[in-house]
Amino acid sequence: MYELHKHGVVILDFGSQYTQLIARRVREQNVFSEILPPETSITDILNREPAALILSGGPSSIFGNEAPEFDKAILDTDLPILGICYGLQLLAHHQGGEVESTGQGEYGFAEIELDDNSGLFDSVPQTSKVWMSHMDRVSKIPNGWHTLAHSSNGVIAAMANEDQSRVATQFHPEVAHTEAGKIILHNFLFKVANCDPSWTPGNFIDEQIALIRKQVGDGKVLCGVSGGVDSTVVAALLHKAIGEQSTAVLIDHGLLRKNEARDCVNALKTGLGVNIHCYDESETFLSQLDGVTDPEKKRKVIGNQFIYSFDRISEEMGKMQFLAQGTLYPDVVESGVSKGKTAHVIKSHHNVGGLPEDMEFELVEPLRELFKDEVRNVGRELGLPEILIERHPFPGPGLAVRIIGDITRERIKILQEADQVYMDILHEDNLYNDIWQAFAVLIPVLTVGVMGDQRTYENLLGIRAVTSTDGMTADWFRMPADTLSKISNRIVNSVRGINRVVYDITSKPPGTIEWE
Ligand code: XMP
Repeated sequence: MYELHKHGVVILDFGSQYTQLIARRVREQNVFSEILPPETSITDILNREPAALILSGGPSSIFGNEAPEFDKAILDTDLPILGICYGLQLLAHHQGGEVESTGQGEYGFAEIELDDNSGLFDSVPQTSKVWMSHMDRVSKIPNGWHTLAHSSNGVIAAMANEDQSRVATQFHPEVAHTEAGKIILHNFLFKVANCDPSWTPGNFIDEQIALIRKQVGDGKVLCGVSGGVDSTVVAALLHKAIGEQSTAVLIDHGLLRKNEARDCVNALKTGLGVNIHCYDESETFLSQLDGVTDPEKKRKVIGNQFIYSFDRISEEMGKMQFLAQGTLYPDVVESGVSKGKTAHVIKSHHNVGGLPEDMEFELVEPLRELFKDEVRNVGRELGLPEILIERHPFPGPGLAVRIIGDITRERIKILQEADQVYMDILHEDNLYNDIWQAFAVLIPVLTVGVMGDQRTYENLLGIRAVTSTDGMTADWFRMPADTLSKISNRIVNSVRGINRVVYDITSKPPGTIEWE
């Protein structure tokens, strides 16, 4: 079991904002990678049978008191090591070189020139642009090491020991701005180290099928489906692994996008033969939301009602021992590795799928090692339609947080129609996949307009589109003016109840992505 974990890469996380990116870049080359805390012991690392070790960047200074602890025995292993930024300084400092703090760092683009184009820099152009982000720098490389590249500012940009079993870059090869970053990581994985490129969606599915069967035996699994890609992929994977032993349940709270519940059920039931049941609970949810206008209260009402509905439905279905969830790797990393972080609660995110703690289920979480892009690839391999796979993230409370003020059936319908027109146009203009998340917001403020010879006095619609990698920060999408014009015209002409459209140009921060 877990054969796919072997001959991959262990990444020790010294606190870089790019650590997850390193893991993703490694996996893009079909090599398994796992992020571990910096103090992980060499025994724990070797037990995983990795083929290489990467030491990430980090905010600390190598000689400061706050420098993270690590097991010095890692420096004596036979495992090939790549140090990135702080990782380079750590290697320099602990192998007899010198690191200095000049008080003046390098941030952003730098140009490097190669001093040695073998091994790590094989097939890399003699000069290229890289992404730097560091305060300290190496002033003397360790004995027996040599410089692989230097930057035009005279900084040692990369270095290695004699046989290149220890290599290090001051810049960030994992960041897209580093022109040759992909080649450099490829060289590390396959020329410096001997990694196994077996981390593919097909192999992942085969391994998970075996693992799910082993975990579940002849038990029964309940699988909550929200319409989003993660839970849909879990349902499809479970179906492939254990067929009718798994029952997927979609609770329609009446606040999904137009046809979303239907499309999801069709794709799973008709397309893949998944045993799925959709429960229309909209009456209950909407009556609970009657008169509720406060955003946090809306979230609480929906979160609680979700639990009641789920409880009732699972009871009706008889004893289920297992509950399947679409937990992803970033959640696992955030909860495990970055311990001690204190996050300020801006909004109480209530994932529909969040369940009461006293429920007696054993969890099945087949995606807990995957990043979102990997989930999408697994979904494709399982035969899910592209429209479901590429779907933008959708908040658990759904349209409730996109209807400012009172939620009524009429308002939901107006927003669903407008949102559908907006999405159609993004697909028509081939923009949907360039955007991380796009949606419409109903702002029940009436403004005056004119249609034909008639005066109108109707609702305002906000439309929003953002680019982002994880939803934590976001920039507003530079939507082409022709597309904006098409969206506004078609919505005002075809959706009754809206006579004006505005585009939201707020980034996060200071805005949040959702309006409520
Ligand atoms: P904000 O609005 O906080 O959103 O910038 C960041 C991302 O989270 C989604 N979001 C939610 N997801 N339950 C969820 O499952 C929620 O209550 C919730 N609120 C926001 C939002 O759509 C965006 O992708």
